Parts: sequence; C-alpha cells; structure tokens
Amino acid sequence: MSDGNKKVVLAYSGGLDTSVMIRWLKEEYGLETVAVLVDVGRATGLEELRQKALDIGAVEARVIDAREEFADDFLAPALAANALYEGKYPLVSALSRPLISRILVEAARETGAVAVAHGCTAKGNDQVRFDLGIRALDPSLEILAPAREWGLTRQQAMEYAAEHGIPVPLKKESPYSIDENLWGRAIECGPLEDPWREPPEDVFEVTTAPEKAPDEPAYIEVEFAAGVPVALDGRTLLLHELAAAVDDLAGAHGFGRLDMVENRLVGIKSREVYEAPGALALIMAHRDLEDLVLPRELTHFKAGLEQKFADMAYNGGWYDPLMDAIRAFMDSTQQRVSGTVRLKLFKGGCSVAGRKSPMALYEHGLATYGSDDDFSHEAAKGFCELWGLPLEVWAKKNE
Ligand code: ARG
Repeated sequence: MSDGNKKVVLAYSGGLDTSVMIRWLKEEYGLETVAVLVDVGRATGLEELRQKALDIGAVEARVIDAREEFADDFLAPALAANALYEGKYPLVSALSRPLISRILVEAARETGAVAVAHGCTAKGNDQVRFDLGIRALDPSLEILAPAREWGLTRQQAMEYAAEHGIPVPLKKESPYSIDENLWGRAIECGPLEDPWREPPEDVFEVTTAPEKAPDEPAYIEVEFAAGVPVALDGRTLLLHELAAAVDDLAGAHGFGRLDMVENRLVGIKSREVYEAPGALALIMAHRDLEDLVLPRELTHFKAGLEQKFADMAYNGGWYDPLMDAIRAFMDSTQQRVSGTVRLKLFKGGCSVAGRKSPMALYEHGLATYGSDDDFSHEAAKGFCELWGLPLEVWAKKNE
C-alpha cells in the first residue's frame, strides 16, 4: 500500500459488489481505494462496514452521516415540487444520487484522488445520475463503473471474493436488489421480474400488510412552514426526524406500498416495488395545503413544472441549470405554504381529514350556501354571458 499510488474514491455500500470493487480497482486499474459510505437514512452496521472496507484493502474508509443534508437539500425541494415520477414514484433513489455524487467529489478533492467509482450496473438509472452528477461537479475526475464492464455474475463475484479473502454475506443472499433511504425503499429483481405476480410479503419491511393493519384509524397532524414540514402532532422536529416518524406511523397502518411498471431512462420498462409511507403521506399533505393557500392559476401552472422537476431528477439532471431555474420557481411559490394538515391513516389508506392555515384563500363568506353568503350573485349572470360569448358565436356560425 504505497502512498504514492493514485487514488480512487469509491461509493461503497458494504455489499458484495462494492466490496469486490476495492480489490478489483487495485488489480485492474492500479488504484488505491478511499471507500466512502454515505448514510442517507435507514442504514445500519456502518462501523462494521467501514472496518470491512479497510480489511479488504481500502487505504481509507469514511462513513458520512448525510441524513440532515439529504433532508434539507433534496427532500425539501422534492416536497415543494410534490415530486412523483410518472405520477407515482417519489424518486427515492433518484434524490440520493446527486447528494452522494457531491460527497464523492468532495472526498476526491480532499484526498487528491484522480477518479471516482460507483457500483452501478449498465441497465439502471443510477449510473446516469452518478455519472452526470460527478461530471457536473468536477469534469476533471475520471469515472469508473467496474460493474458496468466486468460482466461478473453474482456467482462469479462470490468466487472472486472467496479467492481474494473478501468476506461474503453468510446468510442466504436475498433475491432482491434494494436501495433505501429516508424517503423510502426501492425493491427490484427476483420474483418481482414477473409483473403479473403479486409481490411476496417478504419484500416489505416498513409497511404492515393492509389487511393486518390496526382496526382503528389513527390521525396525525403535520405542520408546515413555508412549504417545509416542521412539526408532527405539535412536536417540533427536524425534517429528517419528521420524515422518519411519519414513515413509521403511516407504514404501521399499511400505507405507502407501490407496485408499478416504470419507464427507465435507458429504455427499459421495469417492474418496481416501493414502500414510501412517509414520502407519500407528506406529499399528499403538502399538496393539499397548497390547494388551500395558493391561487388557482399558480397551482395549475405549477403542476406542469412539478412533472418537469420529477423528470429532471429521475433522469440525472439535478445539477442542470434548468433544474436551478425550476427550483427557483418552486421556492418562490412556497413562502405562503404554511399551515397544518390532518391525515387519517386506516387499513392501507391515507387521506386528508382536515386542513387549516392563516394564509388560507378559502373564505367562508364566498363558499357558503348558508345565510351569511356574501358572494355577488348578480355579477354571475354577466360573467357567464361574456365567458360563453365566443362559444355562442361559434355555435351560431355552425348551425
Ligand atoms: N427504479 C428506481 C429508480 O430508478 C429505483 C432504483 C433502485 N436502485 C437500485 N440500485 N436497486 O430510481
């Protein structure tokens, strides 16, 4: 392990592939590995994994607790944009990749590394997000993605590990490929590759099966300040704590499972299963509060940009100047998004049961059908006359 050797910063997860990579990068590329394990939530056994990287031969191994940064810099903007790819998927993995890219690039600068490596395969979206993220932040760094090139099957990777004294997971390998963080869990592969087959119960970890969820509903209250959730049931929390708490509560009631066929950027349709109770509940609450406080035209226009935001994030464009511009728009809409939303959780469902805000544009006097009505009924006749005028002219010409 000579200090004079060139270094590579590896996005290390502790799993089989990135463990093998520490040795592979040395043997095939002559590079010493600085292993960087980023905690974006839901991670366990980090110190053991750090030690494992050193045992395998990394010259340095770092664990970075990035949960707060992840929540503040990525989840808050995603929530402001009610971001759901294809109207469903809350971008769990897509949001963590630009943050991990940023942390890798910082580590490369600090350690003088010439390259950055990640463990993504050629068929997924994550390689795109890492590659674009790293290139946007430091175009001088070389990007290595050994799993995109080595063509090792699971079995061959295990054999390589055994030959090189790399510890392999002892318990039977799960058939699933899982990526998880504060915003949810993504589960792929194995029996899920048959889109007709219902996901086996063992893919789920944070959601109770709806049929086994409690028979009594639960209510939670989420308070927002300028678009960001700041308190849960009256308790002030940091965003990453609040997201985790809502995740637990909503998941316990069986809410938050998604089963979808998704269009990947690389052209493949893939069957994806997610559990994201916290993300989906918070997006539902946030969107509902916006309906209460934002004017009609703004809400309608924003919906189009929300979709663009989700596509940009999904497709690896977090650091694209268009994304900066969209985020500036989103920010400008959030100043008035303050108030409280009450959610009802029951048997796999989550629904909004109430909302209130000092910024509400809802006016009882305008909305009511009761005696205290102060809407101008006289004006309505003329309004309809003029609003329908072009249609009437058209209809007469086409009689
Ligand atoms: N299909 C999702 C996405 O592209 C989930 C990816 C999960 N990643 C993984 N390495 N298992 O965002």
